[in-house]
Amino acid sequence: MKLLVVGGGGREHALAWTIARSPRVRKVYVAPGNGGTARDRRLCNVLLSEPKALADFAASEAIDLTVVGPEAPLAAGIVDTFRQRGRRIYGPTRAAAQLEASKDFAKAFMQRHSIPTAAARSFTEVFEAREYVRSRGAPIVIKADGLAAGKGVVVAQTVPQALEAIDRLLVQRHLGTAGAKILVEDHLPGEEASFIVMADGRHALALATSQDHKRLLDGDQGPNTGGMGAVSPAPVVTPQLHARVMREIMLPAIAGMAAEGEPYCGFLYAGLMIGPDGEPRALEFNCRLGDPETQPILMRLRSDFVDLLEHAVEGTLDRVEAEWDRRVALGVVVAAHGYPETPRRGDPIASLPQDAQDCMVFHAATRQQQDRLITDGGRVMCVTALGENVAAARRRAYDAVSDVRFTGMQFRTDIGQRAMQRGSN
Ligand code: AMP
Ligand code: GLY
Repeated sequence: MKLLVVGGGGREHALAWTIARSPRVRKVYVAPGNGGTARDRRLCNVLLSEPKALADFAASEAIDLTVVGPEAPLAAGIVDTFRQRGRRIYGPTRAAAQLEASKDFAKAFMQRHSIPTAAARSFTEVFEAREYVRSRGAPIVIKADGLAAGKGVVVAQTVPQALEAIDRLLVQRHLGTAGAKILVEDHLPGEEASFIVMADGRHALALATSQDHKRLLDGDQGPNTGGMGAVSPAPVVTPQLHARVMREIMLPAIAGMAAEGEPYCGFLYAGLMIGPDGEPRALEFNCRLGDPETQPILMRLRSDFVDLLEHAVEGTLDRVEAEWDRRVALGVVVAAHGYPETPRRGDPIASLPQDAQDCMVFHAATRQQQDRLITDGGRVMCVTALGENVAAARRRAYDAVSDVRFTGMQFRTDIGQRAMQRGSN
């Protein structure tokens, strides 16, 4: 078989690497890919990004199945384009991708289907939004409605901070039309976890659980980022909680989309807040896999990923199960100088650890320039390792990180800390 992976981050390197492990696969293209996918002999980068050009490529190369990594092409309708041309692709349609692309849509959807989430209201009028914030008090969360690449959420600790965030979005239009409508949401205390399923329109197959580390600095300090590291499984998601999340959040979401005439086919990611009372609530939906969660999750996958993907596009996920490595996988993101505000590009990567069975460097913002590898954006790579428990996976990952060398590199030294504190493996 020939497969095409759309995207060029660490998630897509992990997707392509996992797909290439399937004995059924002859060729894997990655569009546009990165320096890591360029170096892997089994993968082939294709410098295309427009949905129509990608559909043409899929037709001319007789690609059997296309898998989409990031949200932007999904929200732009790449799945609709491929389907109109009769090409197999795994991901939600443009309409279904609204679960991520519009936080207002997602919140109203959750309310319609009684999916537990924080109380919220949406606003386009600045005076009404201010009034509401004053009436609710702080802490309170202000969210841009549209896609904002991780920059659309402010967790305000005080009312003045919330008012400032409202001003930036509705008055100064810092995020343009993505912030022309906002959501003002109650702040939920608790511990976050990522819960991702494969959906086929009717059924859901849960992937291994994971936990991201969103802040830049150790101890969950500093600005929010796309994610500085992840661990799988997430001990906070006990088997009982897992069953509840499926029953109360994931399955109602899939049934709800089907009932509304937009069956959801694709990876569905719920960002969860597990309250001090043990109640799981959905903070958001993403219509894709998480990055960096995918890297540790897929390192633990023992089933043939291509089989799972085929069942997903055929609507038969109820007939398969996924098998997971019992070990823990832990990924440490190494980011560029200046990330997240102003990441510097072009630093030569002087050294990298050897890839091994139990340790992989998944590249993200790297680029092959003649015979050298350079940094090409914020999150440069995710060094991901397997171990018998969190401590062992962490040791292995950080040993490998010590072999990474480029000027200005930054990484957290405490990935997996919360998982270790829970004392589970
Ligand atoms: P989101 O993009 O909606 O997941 O928000 C980004 C981050 O903001 C989340 O990962 C949480 O850390 C935080 N956050 C979002 N909504 C809330 C909420 N209602 N209460 C507390 N924290 C939140
Ligand atoms: N790591 C968080 C995300 O992919 O949204």
